[in-house]
Amino acid sequence: MPTDQREIVPLQRNRPRDTLGRPLRDLRISVTDRCNFRCPYCMPRERYDEHYRFLKSAERLGFEEIVRLTRLFVQLGVRKLRITGGEPLLRPGLPDLIGDLTTLGGVEDVALTTNGVLLAQHAAELRAAGLRRVTVSLDSLDPAIFARMAGGLGTPAEVLAGIEAAQRAGLTPIKINAVVQRGVNDDALFDLVEHFRGSEVIVRFIEYMDVGNRNDWQAAQVVPSRELIERIGARWPLRADAPGYVGEVAKRYRFEDGSGEIGFISSVTQPFCGDCSRARLSSDGKLYGCLFATSGLDLRGPLRSGADDGQLLEMIRDFWLIRADRYSELRGSKDQHGQRVEMNYVGG
Ligand code: GTP
Ligand code: 5AD
Ligand code: SF4
Ligand code: SF4
Repeated sequence: MPTDQREIVPLQRNRPRDTLGRPLRDLRISVTDRCNFRCPYCMPRERYDEHYRFLKSAERLGFEEIVRLTRLFVQLGVRKLRITGGEPLLRPGLPDLIGDLTTLGGVEDVALTTNGVLLAQHAAELRAAGLRRVTVSLDSLDPAIFARMAGGLGTPAEVLAGIEAAQRAGLTPIKINAVVQRGVNDDALFDLVEHFRGSEVIVRFIEYMDVGNRNDWQAAQVVPSRELIERIGARWPLRADAPGYVGEVAKRYRFEDGSGEIGFISSVTQPFCGDCSRARLSSDGKLYGCLFATSGLDLRGPLRSGADDGQLLEMIRDFWLIRADRYSELRGSKDQHGQRVEMNYVGG
């Protein structure tokens, strides 16, 4: 084999690219399938009731298992980790895991996505464990709309207290994720913009997506980001900004008056699969190549039946090499049917 090829082969093995040429850069780790909210667009109350069978603790990956797998993902190119759920702050001892993940060599960024209700209680401890930043879901400041979108659990005041505690603890920059549903919260979004303008907290509006199989998604409920940008921009002039990094899911805008940044995540009307370098590890140890995947690769089984690191590494690499997912770009086409993974298993 010529010298140059001998050098290329190990590189491909350690930096696998999928069938669309996308590297593996981000790992989103769900630490629990439970949540203390029942947002109808994610875990509708009538389907996640007292009969719903959540994972038992032995079925969830333990922290040591998560850290071991993450180390292997880092060997394959992952640099960015996001801890999700369900609601990750419901997982007992989470700061211990954060401590281990933030000190793994090669990891450049660790963030946490939370609904914010338990954040006031945990912010300082999370920062002390090494977490740098949080993203908080908050769909409305209006108590009635909030209640409707969170399934009647929690209040905007609790979430705001969590955001303030996170600011005090230095878990910054804080981003707010607001899912936009036409006829539900789209007329109340100005409040969110007004509240956080000039505060260094970045509000991002997410187009309502057809994730999972349980939210009865309808296209008519999606408010295209284009429309929102026009509505918000008419009140507070906006200027498009360059992406913060390759593959950033949010399109960034700045207020012309210098009062900060706002973002739009348009996975329905302007899909961003072309740059998608995200793998998702579910709380029960399955690996998914897409938020809309219909099947995942079980890593917990091999992990618990004695597979060594080399074998696990090979499984993950092979998984990535044959990945072809680009659901949002194909949305609506014929071959997109089948039971999709639920959001509370793989985070957002
Ligand atoms: P940072 O820029 O690192 O802060 O992260 P991010 O923009 O990826 O933010 P976050 O993880 O909070 O993602 C925001 C939301 O975008 C998620 O909650 C999802 O709703 C959506 N999203 C993130 N990644 C994907 C993806 O790969 N596909 C789709 N369709 N939606 C995604
Ligand atoms: N569409 C868009 N975003 C969603 N999220 C949950 N379900 C949906 C959906 N159907 C968002 C949450 C949270 C993140 C984890 O995913 O609001 O910000
Ligand atoms: Fe819980 Fe987040 Fe899903 Fe709402 S969107 S039910 S807060 S996991
Ligand atoms: Fe990535 Fe799937 Fe989202 Fe496309 S739809 S950006 S492939 S997670």
